[in-house]
Amino acid sequence: MRVLLTGGAGYIGSHTALLLLQRGFDVIIYDSFLNSSSKVINSIEFYLNSKQINYKLKTIVGDIRNKDCLDKVFKDSINEANPIKSVIHFAGLKSVSQSVDNPLQYWDVNVCGTKNLLEVMSLNNCFSLVFSSSATVYGPSELVPIKENSSCRPENPYGNTKLTVETILNDLFLSKSNVWSISILRYFNPVSAHPSGLIGEDPRGIPDNLFPYITQVAIGRINTLNVYGDDWNTRDGSGIRDYIHIIDLAEGHIAALNYLKSNKFTYEIINLGSNNGYSVFEIINEFHRITGYKVNYKVVKRRSGDISISIADISKANKLLGWSPTRNLKDMCLDGLNWQIKNPNGYC
Ligand code: NAD
Ligand code: UFG
Repeated sequence: MRVLLTGGAGYIGSHTALLLLQRGFDVIIYDSFLNSSSKVINSIEFYLNSKQINYKLKTIVGDIRNKDCLDKVFKDSINEANPIKSVIHFAGLKSVSQSVDNPLQYWDVNVCGTKNLLEVMSLNNCFSLVFSSSATVYGPSELVPIKENSSCRPENPYGNTKLTVETILNDLFLSKSNVWSISILRYFNPVSAHPSGLIGEDPRGIPDNLFPYITQVAIGRINTLNVYGDDWNTRDGSGIRDYIHIIDLAEGHIAALNYLKSNKFTYEIINLGSNNGYSVFEIINEFHRITGYKVNYKVVKRRSGDISISIADISKANKLLGWSPTRNLKDMCLDGLNWQIKNPNGYC
């Protein structure tokens, strides 16, 4: 089955692409490479060749806002008698702080780009979509674990764009509910890397997120981790999040694709997390205990836009997709550190 991965060269897309190729899916990666490196494609191919796995992978450099370029990808596949059956739509911009500084760019890529994609899919009779949404859409919630039917009050432009796309998808589904099959995945906090150390997270510049920051402090690329506040209403005062191993997350996408294949004409919103919450201090201490690498830190004031706690209720994913994560915090720390040690400067 041929699957198109927009943004497939990015952090989540590349891990999902590798797993799909291992399972025999025919994959097209469509990416502008704005926030990723073409070296990730070499790493995916290197891994598959080293395991003597036959695979079908095509990479196309293109922007989701370029309708002609997207349309050609679908038309070419039809002409090859191998049409795209499903799309996993990862492409987008994901920095909360950048979205505050440049909201129009976020609306343009995340919302207008998605609208283009949906129009091109319709034109080419492809109606199966898995969409990358985010736990950010919930906004602050003291009620944890968070279920999919909890209220959504995003507090930043990034979250607004994700919730808007969810609304567009709902409207589209309602207008043609005998045609579309849509799965919206709300990720909690994806972390770590493929155990081979060949692919992982490679943020541009100073990382925004806790895990890549910790692994970069561990190897000495950055001196000190700033802990954003020890005065949150949590068990030790630092923020609590639901971290999920990137391979478990990638497995969730395959489960969602398979679900759409056997349950046509559905629209489902599904949380993907681990249902475990760890505080920043717990992560720092566990990382040291598990890996032996100490993480220097200092407590600074709260980061604007942060919330105290976020933990997923994943019972729907388990029930509908038959999916639940199998990797624990130890795997997250060891695989994340392994990637950072093998690639101290990322894909450079
Ligand atoms: P990423 O930045 O690593 O990957 C996104 C990919 O999209 C990159 O390869 C980038 O080059 C590409 N891209 C950006 N703009 C594009 C455009 N206009 N046209 C074509 N390609 C474009 O991010 P990621 O962590 O892999 O996230 C993937 C998706 O999941 C995003 O939509 C993100 O908002 C969402 N998400 C991520 C997280 C997270 O913590 N990583 C959490 C929740 C949701
Ligand atoms: N934190 C620090 N220091 C840092 C980075 C983070 O103390 O240098 C703290 C944060 O304050 C928070 C926790 O570590 O308490 C996790 O922060 P991350 O930045 O790793 O993750 P967030 O929960 O803030 O946000 C992430 C993504 C969003 C996504 C969201 C939910 O950045 O895009 O998870 O999926 F929407």
